[in-house]
Amino acid sequence: MLKKTLKTFTVATALIVSTAGIAQHAFNDADKAVEYRQKALSVMQNNFAYMGDMLKGDMPFDAAIFAERAETFAALASVPWVGFSQEGAMPGNNTDALPAIWDNWDDFQERAEQLQVDANALQAAAATGDQGQMRSAFMIAAKNCKGCHDQYKD
Ligand code: HEC
Repeated sequence: MLKKTLKTFTVATALIVSTAGIAQHAFNDADKAVEYRQKALSVMQNNFAYMGDMLKGDMPFDAAIFAERAETFAALASVPWVGFSQEGAMPGNNTDALPAIWDNWDDFQERAEQLQVDANALQAAAATGDQGQMRSAFMIAAKNCKGCHDQYKD
């Protein structure tokens, strides 16, 4: 019985390890990796900017719509980054990614992970219905966008 459990465990571990291996090389074509991350960043930005417009008063504030956008933003905040997993994926002129990304991979990853933390905080702030909290959570996330773009985007 124990032997069987151990065997099952070993098989499961092997599966996990090989899946992680695939995730490392999710794109065998650099153009596809660029297209994927740019589209993901673009949809993420649509949701983020919508909240910004509401906070600036360019659009009437609606707490329910804001909360929906915050939820979608949080769902998307971790999506773009696998598109950078292929080292040096910057073919032709169709990307604004800088080579510094792959020279400072840990820093880039940390900023990316922080964006998910920021997005979760914004979603939590949206749930309170308090515009002041939403505003400050929004500004923290926006600062992360800008910080990463200043370092790693042309
Ligand atoms: C971890 C670093 C990092 C963070 C954090 C980050 N970005 Fe970016 N962003 C990039 C890089 C690098 C590119 C260039 C990608 C490319 O052209 O291949 C980019 C490109 C973009 C683009 C252009 C996509 C296109 O269609 O070409 C938009 C829009 C964008 N980011 C929005 C945002 C917003 C909004 C945030 C914050 C909510 C954010 N980004 C946070 C690194 C980051």
